[in-house]
Amino acid sequence: MIIYFQAFTNKKVGGIIMDWGMKNRLSRIIRPKTGHAVMLAVDHGYFLGPTTGLEHPWKTIEPLAEYADCLMLTRGVLRNCIPPEIDLPIVLRVSGGTSILGPELLHEGITNSIEDSIRLNVSGLAFSIRVGAEFERDTLLGFSEIVDMGEEYGIPVLAVTAVGKEMTRDARYMALASRIAAELGAHIVKTYYVDGFEKVVDSCPVPIVIAGGKKIPEPDALKMAYDAIQAGAVGVDMGRNIFQSENPVAMIQAVRAIVHDGVNPQEALEVFNSIRQGSD
Ligand code: 5RP
Repeated sequence: MIIYFQAFTNKKVGGIIMDWGMKNRLSRIIRPKTGHAVMLAVDHGYFLGPTTGLEHPWKTIEPLAEYADCLMLTRGVLRNCIPPEIDLPIVLRVSGGTSILGPELLHEGITNSIEDSIRLNVSGLAFSIRVGAEFERDTLLGFSEIVDMGEEYGIPVLAVTAVGKEMTRDARYMALASRIAAELGAHIVKTYYVDGFEKVVDSCPVPIVIAGGKKIPEPDALKMAYDAIQAGAVGVDMGRNIFQSENPVAMIQAVRAIVHDGVNPQEALEVFNSIRQGSD
């Protein structure tokens, strides 16, 4: 059966023919009702260890789960911390192999077999690429292998455009990295919000979600999410700016209001404050 992907996104990608399983899994991530997605990123431990706010993953995730469209995490946390009865699609991080302490940070390779991803019933695979930096070739070829595996079994692949400390974060770079990810077969690209983000979205033929990045004040994070959606991103794959918020449950609902209900940053802040005050 062939179906068109365009129906589930607000991007003009007409003509792309997609297998039913692939389309079905994608629609579990990018929700057809709004064409948008609130992904909750809780994969940080794969290179950072017990990240602040994620020391006990399920304790953090449980109250947030009902407001997320999907969870992005590793198989270790999935198997050990997440109840298998959970009714949330999983985007599994399948890149890794280096740590914050090691000499080759972000020189990531494939960490999971496709069979194990299927065993875990995941809806998507996530892999970090490192464009324009050392190890570029290794990460791009590893990513391409994951795309081959995903295509074979109808599992969409999200490319994370990882940025090293030394690298410039601007629209030119993000557009280049995102476009390369799409050219190599990414079904979704996760990148960072920058000024001129329209350029990044416009030149990338697949849906884009933004990472939140380091924790910033809630009003700034909400404005960033809003600006990204206005620029054409389909959603967020946000971690620290949700789970490290002074009130993560209020924050995820405020982000959700921006992504799915189209509220502006001021209205989203009101959502945040009213839920926060109610829970005090
Ligand atoms: C690293 C990652 C992170 O592990 C994570 O998903 C990023 O989320 P956030 O920046 O919103 O905390 O993708 O490249």
